[in-house]
Amino acid sequence: MSTVIKNGTVVTADLTYKADVLIENGTIIEIGPDLKGDETLDATGCYVMPGGIDPHTHLEMPFMGTYSSDDFESGTRAALAGGTTMVVDFALPSPGQGLLDALQMWDNKSTRANCDYSFHMAVTWWGEQVFNEMATVVKDKGINTFKHFMAYKGALMVNDDEMYASFQRLAELGAIAMVHAENGDVVAELSAKLLAEGNTGPEGHAYSRPPQVEGEATNRAIMIADMAGVPLYVVHTSCEDSHEAIRRARQLGKRVWGEPLIQHLTLDESEYFNKDWDHAARRVMSPPFRNKKHQESLWHGLQAGSLSVVATDHCAFTTEQKRYGVGDFTKIPNGTGGLEDRMPMLWTHGVATGRLTPNEFVAVTSTNIAKILNCYPKKGAILVGADADIVVLDPAKEKVISAKTQQSAIDYNVFEGQQVKGLPRFTLTRGKVAVHDGEIRTEEGHGKFVAREPNTAVNKALSSWKELTAPRPVERTGIPATGV
Ligand code: URP
Ligand code: ZN
Ligand code: ZN
Ligand code: ZN
Repeated sequence: MSTVIKNGTVVTADLTYKADVLIENGTIIEIGPDLKGDETLDATGCYVMPGGIDPHTHLEMPFMGTYSSDDFESGTRAALAGGTTMVVDFALPSPGQGLLDALQMWDNKSTRANCDYSFHMAVTWWGEQVFNEMATVVKDKGINTFKHFMAYKGALMVNDDEMYASFQRLAELGAIAMVHAENGDVVAELSAKLLAEGNTGPEGHAYSRPPQVEGEATNRAIMIADMAGVPLYVVHTSCEDSHEAIRRARQLGKRVWGEPLIQHLTLDESEYFNKDWDHAARRVMSPPFRNKKHQESLWHGLQAGSLSVVATDHCAFTTEQKRYGVGDFTKIPNGTGGLEDRMPMLWTHGVATGRLTPNEFVAVTSTNIAKILNCYPKKGAILVGADADIVVLDPAKEKVISAKTQQSAIDYNVFEGQQVKGLPRFTLTRGKVAVHDGEIRTEEGHGKFVAREPNTAVNKALSSWKELTAPRPVERTGIPATGV
């Protein structure tokens, strides 16, 4: 059975044009005028765009004594409701656990996914087993991205020597390093001091993680990646201090990408000073929300191209879970949701305001990350042969964001009350219509794992350059005799 999307305007990262899109067996088979199919989806007045890719989620993640409450079923249902058709989650070994063991756990959880997904691997400790299993993860398991936490001391954090060893291994394997860039040692010191001084509320979380801890760690990771010769992806870039480091590195020819979150682009630190403890705690995440100056910097980065991808870091905890931290902000589970809201919020605050063009919107929500992760043009494209992961976005469709109507399993939404304009009329996941005129028609288990090959074009370019500029002994014409 074939499906045709008719009368819409195709918008990709580089082109805007009127065309119908014909789909069969989950793939785009023709793009052009006057196409016919067994089923017709009317896209009059809409933009036909590559479905969103959210490269940063934590679904059913064990963290801070609990599990994040959206699993692969509710999380991917929320994603599709908002026009996102692929998520990339982090397989997270607990310290001492093997990478392959952790991956098996993530494989088991993800069988319930409604849309396609992939994994990043996290390096949470260092040893021979990790070194050896990294090769299997890259060569046999279709994962070419590895995250390192420079924060969460005593839990997930790795030190510089471990990070350097891991980065060198990744360079060898043709993979990409990722970092959560915050100086975990300084955060631990600041947290202890704040608690001792009676700053126990959620605002203490923001005070304990100032922009400097992120700027310092971002600079450090960039320099370590440069020495190891590995491309670097900095997750949840939240402030000018980190953006400045990324911008400078890119200008110096280093292969570095930055990923602001929709939360940091649209919410600010005043949330932590709300008189209602629950309100503030629900917004506790790392890095914390920043002031307007930092927000502006992130928008400028998207406009200038120094920041490449907008993600969510979707890691949803209920109010009850957040209350583990009453009396001690360091025990509030870190994380916020956003999977359903990323695309409408970015359209509303980005495209509708004139900060971003529709093509730039597609680039930062889908195409750029598909290229970085090496799954383009299977994903992130409206092209013949690409997967039919498509959002038909109606720029006139509006709603007010509310926990009452959301797909996420939690009892609140950090964007509650926001009026958004630009919503999916249809979302298709490999040709299956998962959102039909606002009606959710997801199918549990429809999602498939997307394998990603190593040795991307960027890896190859960087390794050629590193080889060309590697230290070599000088061939001298005369060497003085020693010991005379
Ligand atoms: O606060 C956050 N970001 N929670 C999720 C884990 C992480 O650091 O990405
Ligand atoms: Zn993180
Ligand atoms: Zn995260
Ligand atoms: Zn299916």
